Amino acid sequence: MAREQWTSNLGFILAAAGSAVGLGNIWRFSYVVGTEGGAAFVLIYLVTIFLIGYPLLTTEIALGRKTQKNPVGAFKALAPNSPWWLVGAMGVLAGFVILSFYSIVAGWSLAYVFKALGGFNAGDDFTGMFVGHITSVWPPIIWHAVFMALTIGIIASGVVNGIQRATKILMPVLFLLLIVLVVRGLTLEGAGAGVAFFLTPNLGDVTGETFLRAVGQSFFTLSLGMGALITYGSYLKREDNISDSAGWVVGLDTGVAIIAGFAIFPAVFALGFDPASGAGLAFMTLPAVFAAMPAGTIFGFMFFLLLSVAALTSAISLLEVVVAWVVDEKGWTRKQAALTIGGIIFLTGLPPTLGMSLWSNVTFLGMDILDTYDFFASDILLPLGGLLTAIFAAHVWKTKNAVEEINSPKGTIVFGNWYTILVGYIIPISVAVVMVWGLYTKLF
Ligand code: PHE
Ligand code: NA
Repeated sequence: MAREQWTSNLGFILAAAGSAVGLGNIWRFSYVVGTEGGAAFVLIYLVTIFLIGYPLLTTEIALGRKTQKNPVGAFKALAPNSPWWLVGAMGVLAGFVILSFYSIVAGWSLAYVFKALGGFNAGDDFTGMFVGHITSVWPPIIWHAVFMALTIGIIASGVVNGIQRATKILMPVLFLLLIVLVVRGLTLEGAGAGVAFFLTPNLGDVTGETFLRAVGQSFFTLSLGMGALITYGSYLKREDNISDSAGWVVGLDTGVAIIAGFAIFPAVFALGFDPASGAGLAFMTLPAVFAAMPAGTIFGFMFFLLLSVAALTSAISLLEVVVAWVVDEKGWTRKQAALTIGGIIFLTGLPPTLGMSLWSNVTFLGMDILDTYDFFASDILLPLGGLLTAIFAAHVWKTKNAVEEINSPKGTIVFGNWYTILVGYIIPISVAVVMVWGLYTKLF
């Protein structure tokens, strides 16, 4: 049977943007910007997105389209009888770990769809609402189960049908809702302090950990370093250009994150939240903004519904990486693979939520279980996977072949032999330096 393909280039861009745009742009971006001190982090993040994220995103898509394989198969195809396939295997592991906690946070978002319906009212204790939810035992587990069931259902039903359908209309609506939030946030009394926090860098506070978290966030938000884009690229047609499509994905993803920053930080300062409060920042602040606007119940309901959909289109790309691997390499059927792997991920997702309730005394390096999963996968596995993919593309697959695949057919953005310098040297060296330095400041 012929391998399924995206029915159009737009279909590919939408699916890849669907993978990229998710909780990473709103929940994770705002919380890490807050804990890492604001604008200086944002600056490092933006530089990383353009100098490291964009070239690597393009490279991953090219690897996928060239080999028409899952991440493990892609490395095996281009470097047979070598250990390079382990990079793909590391990506499968990262996908597994990320989905385990991603589904928990997506479950919070689903729960908030219903909390919004109950009404967000001025003067409510939104911090108490959030803390009460995440420290309860059953509700987060049930929403996690619902979210995993949805993800499994879509993956079991097949690539093109399952993935392409939802994204087309819903993403623009999410974007419009964010704009509404920006307008409300910026017009709140005292919003200026939040704008300053988000835009005026204080380079004095930057440490190795700031860099590591910025690189980790760049990889996480672009779905990079674990083969999600290799997998999606493997369904891309030869007639479609890669470099421009990748440009669209990077632009959309970064745009949503920055807009989300403007929706959240002015409100954080105006309404008296602590920017460094961690993983709950968006979930505590945004309901307070909805409470401060007309028709806030409807807007809040729509927002959390669309955030859950955005999370779903990201989650299906995470599960797809693991499923594509067992389907291609082990010969399972899609249904079997989606159900079995999804079921296991449901179970490995239990510790991150129990870590906020029954197991709240369990910590590693000061992080709870969810943050530990996140740190290990997003700040270690993804950058390491990206670094090795860069070395592989430029030196093993070779610049000439990578650039040829990226440029056929030629797009507006044309790659040249500078690829060796950037992807073969600058990216791996800078990511390695940041990882060593960041881990050092984190550990000592
Ligand atoms: N990029 C997604 C987000 O920002 C998360 C993700 C990471 C998806 C890695 C796939 C792979 O929410
Ligand atoms: Na993202």
